[in-house]
Amino acid sequence: MFADTRLAFIGSGVMGEAIIKGILAKGLIDPQRIIVSDILPDRVQELQRQYGVRGTTDNSEAARFADILILSVKPQVLGKVLRELRGKVAEDVLVFSIVAGARIRTIARGLGVNAVIRVMPNTPAQIGAGMSVWTATSTVSARQKEQAQAILSALGEEAYVDEERYLDMATAVSGTGPAYIFLMMEALTDAAVHLGFSRKMALDLVTQTTLGSVLFAKQSSKHLAELRNMVTSPGGTSAEALYQLEKGSLRTVLSKAVWAAYQKSKLLGEMSEKEEDEINGIAPLEEKL
Ligand SMILES: NC(=O)c1ccc[n+]([C@@H]2O[C@H](COP(=O)([O-])OP(=O)(O)OC[C@H]3O[C@@H](n4cnc5c(N)ncnc54)[C@H](OP(=O)(O)O)[C@@H]3O)[C@@H](O)[C@H]2O)c1
Repeated sequence: MFADTRLAFIGSGVMGEAIIKGILAKGLIDPQRIIVSDILPDRVQELQRQYGVRGTTDNSEAARFADILILSVKPQVLGKVLRELRGKVAEDVLVFSIVAGARIRTIARGLGVNAVIRVMPNTPAQIGAGMSVWTATSTVSARQKEQAQAILSALGEEAYVDEERYLDMATAVSGTGPAYIFLMMEALTDAAVHLGFSRKMALDLVTQTTLGSVLFAKQSSKHLAELRNMVTSPGGTSAEALYQLEKGSLRTVLSKAVWAAYQKSKLLGEMSEKEEDEINGIAPLEEKL
């Protein structure tokens, strides 16, 4: 599927490495067809040593090498990277961005390219258990979509959406999701310590209960409410605990949190789009109409 395709990573931190690891573990591509670019020479050398990939600290060199250019820098440095690479990316290169909040329009205009894939991955991608939601511009070919799907499958599960607005929603659910789960696990662990368990045992109980419940829900054909009812005997301990969770508005708080994350994601996307337009001297869309 990748034949002689060459990949370049602009920014090779945690997520960049997770993708490289996944791709190589699945044997999708020869390491010498991958080039990593990072601002830190030590980081580049470390990745070269560990994975046998090519390396550079010059983003332009990496861009010239690539058929697929993976943008994996932090959102704060994206503007700088786009300006640095503008005019240096061939028109037929597929740009694959995992940068949170960065809109396709910002990237396409910033680099002067047409084929862009935007992905919202999440941190469990680091152990191949991620959830990535992605979309593509209409100029991305069927083969390029297959390649994107293969790359993302190496990180866990993937889901394609045909409208970019779902990316902001996915940011609030699966992208930010690990933060909700870890906070709940942390709170449950503290509650178990409050009862008298050692911190180690409390964490073991909570981790295995979370893992077991997730696997059970995934393998079962039952609705989540049915699974919850199976633990809730009349007048029992779960009923007592659930009463307190409902009384404390757990569902509403969760819903508000996800909505707030969604609004924030949209706002960050708008802000970075406006900033790039101003820098590039492009009038806002409303003014042009
Ligand atoms: N981690 C997540 O949960 C997650 C989830 C979804 C999406 N994402 C997105 O994935 C992207 C990468 O996140 P990450 O966690 O992998 O970040 P990270 O570990 O900080 O990786 C970014 C790398 O880019 C390097 N860099 C900085 N400026 C550069 C430049 N001008 N040119 C080339 N490289 C440069 C950084 O070096 P320094 O460390 O020296 O700055 C760092 O090694 C972000 O845009 C984030 O929004 C992350």
